[in-house]
Amino acid sequence: MDAGSFGADFDPLSEIYLADPYPFLAEAREAAPVFYCDAIDHWIVTRYHDIRNIFRTPALFSAANANSPLRPPCPMAAKALREGGFRGVPTLASVDPPAHTRLRKLANIAFTPKRVAEMEGLVRDLATRFCTERLREGRADIVRDLAWELPALVLFRILGVPDNEVPRVKTGSWNRILFIYGRPAEAVQVQAAEGMAAFWRYAEGLVESRQQDPRDDFISDLVHAQDGDGPSLTPPQAAAIVLGLLFAGHETTTGLLGNAFRRSLTDRPAWQAICEDPALIPNAVEEVLRLDSSVIAWRRRTTQAVVIGGVSVPERADLLLMLGAANRDPTVFHDPDRFDIRRANAHEHLSFGSGPHFCLGAPLARLEARVVLEEVSARVPGLRLVDGVPLQFAPNVSFRGPLSLPVEWNV
Ligand code: HEM
Repeated sequence: MDAGSFGADFDPLSEIYLADPYPFLAEAREAAPVFYCDAIDHWIVTRYHDIRNIFRTPALFSAANANSPLRPPCPMAAKALREGGFRGVPTLASVDPPAHTRLRKLANIAFTPKRVAEMEGLVRDLATRFCTERLREGRADIVRDLAWELPALVLFRILGVPDNEVPRVKTGSWNRILFIYGRPAEAVQVQAAEGMAAFWRYAEGLVESRQQDPRDDFISDLVHAQDGDGPSLTPPQAAAIVLGLLFAGHETTTGLLGNAFRRSLTDRPAWQAICEDPALIPNAVEEVLRLDSSVIAWRRRTTQAVVIGGVSVPERADLLLMLGAANRDPTVFHDPDRFDIRRANAHEHLSFGSGPHFCLGAPLARLEARVVLEEVSARVPGLRLVDGVPLQFAPNVSFRGPLSLPVEWNV
């Protein structure tokens, strides 16, 4: 294929791509590892070393566009955001060093490996309870009955959000996925914008409540953190961090769990190996993250004209970094399309990014996936996918996990 015209018709929001992005990503990585995509006005980058280098060079590649809508919102949606009181305050994922370094230090407190290891008991209790209550009578939906809610409840415990807020936070996250990373029709966009504004007001309310009534939780620590003689963060900055976590801290892990069960139950020998030897699970989780990441693409913006993979890209160009393509780059991963739970370098995937923005929640996501796989494989080794159910994914460029995954077993 001619690299000059490659991707002229490519649309990362088309049904055909979303149903299975990997064949196209493999072709692009081979034929035109960097190309301009008119459908979303972004440059697409697919090779491992180019993407890793971009993540690690914030001076040339800003994260400022990480949370901006992929396409400018329609006027009605922009109005709904404004009138709903939404404030697009740049935060962690979308702020460059050195300002990022300070914010990251504040947010780190709750997610150090030690603090996360302390969460194992809670994760295991939840996994055990969900298995006992919801995996009954030989049939269940692994996503709806387990993966959907569990990561949210873990995150809520850290932040100090009540358990009964799961539906509100899940709805807020769905609106955010559609609005920022998708291209919904105008009517849906307006609804999603109203939902985004409501989600923002909710985060503001949490911050306000902890300002007045501090408790033993992360939001209180954040709101009351001190720098010199005053609070480290303004209330909108704290609300933006809370909102970011209320999104990134569960949706991604719900996707990881769905992908993990889908992959390992499809490859029967892998599932049996996991059931017989749970010590294989941590590497199996890395291999799922590599082969079937729940964040399949992430964004950056060039700060000056640059050459990426031999292609000239102008200043202020938006880039869509295809992590799903990098993770299957044959120059790094041997036989890259194969699911190999013993792969020695599976952990070299880029699913959590790299460099200063490396995912804050990676230790927590890994812990949750390990514990849930341990509990389910020990209790229901005969679990299998229900045949012939087509998988559905949220229509967006970044977040990928099955919305439903029916399973069955003999009782
Ligand atoms: C499988 C699960 C997850 C995946 C695949 C994932 C992926 C990512 C990616 C690709 C980035 C951007 C990295 C970069 O720009 O270099 C990121 C950043 C981030 N993630 Fe995750 N994430 C996951 C789980 C979580 C969880 C559980 C939390 C919180 C509890 C979380 C919180 C964050 C935050 C706050 C950032 C921004 C960090 C910064 O900019 O300094 N993530 N994540």
